[in-house]
Parts: sequence; C-alpha cells; structure tokens
Amino acid sequence: MRMVDLIAKKRDGRELTKQEINFMIQEYTKGEIPDYQMSAFAMAVFFRDMTPDERANLTMAMVESGDQIDLSEIEGIKVDKHSTGGVGDTTTLVLAPLVAAVGVPVAKMSGRGLGHTGGTIDKLEAVPGFHVEIDNNEFNELVNRNKVAVIGQSGNLTPADKKLYGLRDVTATVESIPMIASSIMSKKIAAGADAIVLDVKTGSGAFMKKLEDSKELARSMVEIGNNLGRKTMAIISDMNQPLGFAIGNALEVKEAIDTLKGQGPNDLQELCLVLGSQMVYLAEKSSSVEEARKMLEEAISSGKALEKFKQFLEAQGGDASVVDNPLNLPTAKYTFEVEAKEDGIVSEIVANDIGTAAMILGAGRATKESEIDLAVGLVLHKKIGDSVKKGEPLVTIHSNKEEVEDVIERIYESYTITQDKVKIPTLIYDHIQ
Ligand code: URA
Ligand code: CA
Repeated sequence: MRMVDLIAKKRDGRELTKQEINFMIQEYTKGEIPDYQMSAFAMAVFFRDMTPDERANLTMAMVESGDQIDLSEIEGIKVDKHSTGGVGDTTTLVLAPLVAAVGVPVAKMSGRGLGHTGGTIDKLEAVPGFHVEIDNNEFNELVNRNKVAVIGQSGNLTPADKKLYGLRDVTATVESIPMIASSIMSKKIAAGADAIVLDVKTGSGAFMKKLEDSKELARSMVEIGNNLGRKTMAIISDMNQPLGFAIGNALEVKEAIDTLKGQGPNDLQELCLVLGSQMVYLAEKSSSVEEARKMLEEAISSGKALEKFKQFLEAQGGDASVVDNPLNLPTAKYTFEVEAKEDGIVSEIVANDIGTAAMILGAGRATKESEIDLAVGLVLHKKIGDSVKKGEPLVTIHSNKEEVEDVIERIYESYTITQDKVKIPTLIYDHIQ
C-alpha cells in the first residue's frame, strides 16, 4: 500500500477501507509516513469529507495507536462525560460526585488545562493535599468502593491523534467535522468508557459558533460512538456567555460546592442536572431520564452529593474541610470590583475575552510550561439579561497582583450594556440521540 494512492483516492472523493485507514494511521504514528503526506490527506478530507464507516474506522485506528485503559475491574457501566470546552465550565467537578452519589461509577481520567482556566485536575488540586498520582489498582479499588476517583492522563493515549491534531493546527484543517469527531471520540474510547454523554457547546465562546455546526458535530460523534458499540448521546448547550459565575480554579471548586448544596448558579445547576440525568440513565441506574433527574435532585437536597464530594476528596488526600469552610481553599491577596459605568441591561458577555482576562491573572496557562495560580480568577455578578445600575459590581477580580488595569480593560470590553430589550440565550438547545 502507498500513501500517495490513499491521498489520491480521498482527493477523488472515494471511500477508504478499514485496512487502508489502519495502514495510514499505524505508519504515520511510527513516523513512516511523513507530515507532508498526512497534511495533504487532511486537506483532502477537509474538502471531501468522510463516510460514517470511515469516521468509525479512523476513530478506532487512533484508539489502537496507543494505550487503551482497561476498566473491566470496575463494576457497572462506566459512563464518561465530555465537553467540547468553554469558559468557566465547572460541570465535571459537580457531576463526578453527583452521579456517583446515586451509584454510577465515575472512573475519570483527566488532564491539565491549556488556556482560560485549568483542567479538572488543576481545579481539584486547589483542594490542599488532593493528588491524582495513584496507580491503576488503587484507582479501580477507589471507584469500586466510593464510585468515584480521578487519575492523571496516561502519557500514551491516542498518540496518532496527538500527532494529527498538531499537524491540523498548522495546516488549516482543524475545522473538519469528521476529524474533530474522531479525534474527540478516540480519546474517550481509549480511556475505557462504556457509554458517553457529550456536552457540545455552541455560541460565541465555543469551538463551534453556529448551532447547525454544533448539531452536525454532535450527530457525527453520536454515530461514531454507537457504531463502535458505546452508547452515546449529546446535549447541545449554550456558550454565548461563561457558564456559572466563577472562572478560576479554587473559585470554581467553591462554585461546585455551592452547586452540590443546591445553592449554585441556575445555569450551571440546570446543565449538571440535564447531563447527569443522561449519565445515570445510560449507566442503567434509572428506568427513565425523568427518574434519573429526581434521583439527582434528591441527592442534592439530602446532602448525599456533598458527602460524596467530601469522601472523594479525602480518598485522594484532599482536605475535605474546604466543603464546609471554603476559606481553606487558596485565596487571592487582593480583590477588585469592576463597576458598571451606566444603567441598563447586560446584552453580551464575550466569553473568550473573560477567559483571557482570567488567564492574564494566572488562572490558566498561556503555554504548556506556564505555572498556574490556583487562587485567582473572576466572579461574575451579572449575566446576560440582568439589569444593572451605574456603580454596581459587574465582576470581582481575585488577584495576587496589585496591577490589574489590563484585566479590567478586557472585562469592560467583553460586557455590553444596553437600554433595549434583551433576549436571554437558551441554555439547552437540543438532545441528539
Ligand atoms: N478537540 C479535539 O480534541 N480534537 C479536535 O480535533 C478538535 C477539538
Ligand atoms: Ca463556572
């Protein structure tokens, strides 16, 4: 088999076989196929698309390019949740203990973040003592005992995807639905999920800005998952503004605690209940999605979800006293209020600008090597549709630097206040099965 023939076949719009795709991904991972040929192939896919079979075969070839996590020691149906990313997305911190509290095994493999705020592991490390350096045996035992544990990402998960994603990034071929869908799904499947709930974001702060594109990506991922024997469904949710109020690691832990107490922001709470219900249902812990939601609401109101969070933190060395006393979390030296300059109604909050403001404070990494400051970040007081009076705080900045002019500037740029009527964005646009 020759790579040049496979490029030509895709260039001419024909379908590649499973053997051809396996050959290409295996040889590319080994370095036998050079980047220039793989780039040409990626561009051919960009214009010619892939059939459902090709997408499933590409996904599986990437899964098989590296380690596959074996979760068979863990009892029950392992459901994973994946979000396509946004600003201030605190859902994983809430969902892990919440669904575990009703008996769903959460065997979560997570990474560190790049960009606005940390990843799930960075956020959890804001809890003093918490660590994810556990071995596979301990991980399995913890999930069997407590129903929830988080482990750091294996270094050799889907190396073909890592290489190809890096290549797509510099050859203008990221924005291709078949390649995005197989990239994301390969990582979930390699991490051992039996079932997958996807939270596909849409809007100005999302990877996919247009609702139709978000739906198409969701449909493709659901189809790949189901074709490969993993029960998969997707929710399309809003990212026209940050989710919840908090952006920043310790601040998001506190927000997750509030939400587990039933006192969190409405949008975050609702999205967690919607995603969580799907997880419980796919794990076969309820006979319907509606019943699953009732179970989760009960876990919050009874305090079971909060207890589960404490147990989870303690099991991995964390100081669970933060749950009752959030002041035990890292706290920034200074706070500054960003006040509204006029009366009106908030009509826009550019999520990416807010994310960048949090990153400048040190809540996220500008490069892989950057050090993260777990204490800093932003807390929004006003969301789209809220009315404000001149001088009222829009946002509180939590900073360890005294000089935050550039952050304030960005926050003002991201907020639009109008005198007109404002349409509040829908939170959940669709369910894709
Ligand atoms: N996120 C991924 O993991 N892969 C893509 O291709 C795009 C976004
Ligand atoms: Ca948040």
